[in-house]
Amino acid sequence: MVNKTKILAFGASFRKGSYSKIVQGSLAALAPENASVSEFSLEGIPIFNQDLEGNLPSQVKEFKTAIEASDAIVIVTPEYNYSVPGYLKNAIDWATRPYGSNSFDGKAAAIISTSPGTLGGSRANYHLRQCFITMNVRALNRPEAIISQVDQKIKDNVLADEKTRDVLKKLLQGLAQLANAKLTGKV
Ligand SMILES: Cc1cc2nc3c(=O)[nH]c(=O)nc-3n(C[C@H](O)[C@H](O)[C@H](O)COP(=O)(O)O)c2cc1C
Repeated sequence: MVNKTKILAFGASFRKGSYSKIVQGSLAALAPENASVSEFSLEGIPIFNQDLEGNLPSQVKEFKTAIEASDAIVIVTPEYNYSVPGYLKNAIDWATRPYGSNSFDGKAAAIISTSPGTLGGSRANYHLRQCFITMNVRALNRPEAIISQVDQKIKDNVLADEKTRDVLKKLLQGLAQLANAKLTGKV
């Protein structure tokens, strides 16, 4: 049997009824047959403190281990004040440290942004894409998943909008392909 491509999804907010959490929770069922999606909650990850890099908090160790055990990551982000929510940026900062132990290094990575607004969290989406450079991930460029008016696309706590589900299926398919793409030469 061929091993499935392991995709780790994280980034959703923690609030009850969170739209991003519902979108993140929909991914496992939308993944292609050759891939699986598991979720990691960032809730409880402490605020970054460089003094603790030598003795990482247990939640940070768990997060780094989950990333390192995956073949690819998909970040599902809401938008806070035109950017990436603080809890998500904080978790990313931890996972890139200590220097030389960047857990994201070389992983295939994709972004899904969500908002009840008309711009779908696009500003958070592009700020995160900028962080991808130092995270040194291999970014999936397309399809872009920018889910506007997300509240109207959810029915009974399920992502119901067919067009959006199709985009997410294509994104996960592309991400699995990117994760398995052979790299030629040293990068
Ligand atoms: C601190 C804060 C800042 C926000 N800033 C934005 C914003 O810049 N753009 C936007 O589209 N929505 C913004 N919102 C609204 C969020 O999109 C909305 O609360 C959304 O439901 C959060 O995602 P969630 O449902 O997954 O918790 C903001 C919400 C909060 C709490």
